[in-house]
Amino acid sequence: MKETIQKIRDNLQSLRQYGSPLYVYDYDVLRNRCDQLNDFKKDLEKDLNGIKVNIHYSPKANGNPAIVKAVKEAGLLIDAMSPLELFIDKKCGFNNSEIVYVCNNVDEDEMKMIFESGTLVCLDSISQVETWGKNFPKTNIMVRINPGVGGIGHSEKVVTAGKVNKFGICENNIPELLEIVKKYDLKILGVHQHLGSLFLDDKVEDYISGIRAGLEITKKHFKDVQIIDLGGGFGVPYKKSEKPLDLENVASKLKNELVKFLNDYPSVKEFKFEVGRFIPCEAGVLVGKVNAIKHENGTNWICTDIGMNELVRPSMYDAYHEISLLDEKDTEEITANICGNVCEGGDILGKDRKLKTPSVGDLILVHNAGAYGYSMASNYTGRPRPAEVMLYDDRIELIRKRDTLTYMEENLVW
Ligand SMILES: Cc1ncc(COP(=O)(O)O)c(C=O)c1O
Repeated sequence: MKETIQKIRDNLQSLRQYGSPLYVYDYDVLRNRCDQLNDFKKDLEKDLNGIKVNIHYSPKANGNPAIVKAVKEAGLLIDAMSPLELFIDKKCGFNNSEIVYVCNNVDEDEMKMIFESGTLVCLDSISQVETWGKNFPKTNIMVRINPGVGGIGHSEKVVTAGKVNKFGICENNIPELLEIVKKYDLKILGVHQHLGSLFLDDKVEDYISGIRAGLEITKKHFKDVQIIDLGGGFGVPYKKSEKPLDLENVASKLKNELVKFLNDYPSVKEFKFEVGRFIPCEAGVLVGKVNAIKHENGTNWICTDIGMNELVRPSMYDAYHEISLLDEKDTEEITANICGNVCEGGDILGKDRKLKTPSVGDLILVHNAGAYGYSMASNYTGRPRPAEVMLYDDRIELIRKRDTLTYMEENLVW
């Protein structure tokens, strides 16, 4: 992050033209995370006797075409969860065999679009499999199971496995699933599971136990599956006290499970992962400015132009992001709440943060904003979503324009 912040300082004059707030991404960091995942893939493959390991990027974390292209250049594969994501994937050069369409509660029209696109679909309920089967009998599908245990996540809202969860098919419903599959002569090419979003070293055991449970379910209920998709969840440190995920440790623990599984289940040809956050998160900084400073009832407030419409994670998940001033200052250090410019009490970026007293107009940085930042941004209270910029080694590129008033007015009916 230090290097990225220095790059922002060095390029400040050029960056100012794109306005505030502004998402800034560091291409080197992005590529480094892709390379780490390539090493993780090789590490796993080494002990899996010719079985392929493929890392798909999940663009729900950040679907900017420049990021999708960087992922493509790094040799990773991709997912899609909506027609726009699929369109972007294909435009960035991914072919059908490199994409999995992981959907959740989609209608027949979207299924038709997926079918016609020729990408492999992953369906996550018996009801969705039935709808697919009625429309497209005798086709290949993947199905998402819920292993019932091993749910992980930085917030309850992003845990996607466990007894009560909207995702996947639980073990006791698999016999019914298999009847529907038979009725429509479908072939289950792959079994998918995703336990939730964000585990670090302290939660690797939970992650592995969820993987183990899913593999057991597959062994018990599904015949001749070729693909096992183990989802995402690879975490990054948001707090200074947290350490980067030890991918070698994850690989070594996973290997044990996968090798054991393959001994009993030889039809598998490929393991997939769907990694979102890990790739763009630490490459991104949200740069905003201080619009007001106040002291009320014993509390200091640093009031910025970064609202919950630009970055919703703190207000939605109580998520922690480091926040710093761009310029080092020699003013008094204060403890303050840092908030945005949206009319909601919950529009807070960080509580009880220690910062040097800023002045109105100073630039303020929200760290690790590259994942689930822009992709969750909105026009709440009629504000434009910010622009996005990529810092390459030799140039700065605007990779998405700020919303314009014309764009925002387009759908209004008078
Ligand atoms: C099905 C699926 N796959 C992959 C991901 C990516 O997860 P993460 O960003 O935690 O790697 C998600 C996100 O929650 C998801 O829902």
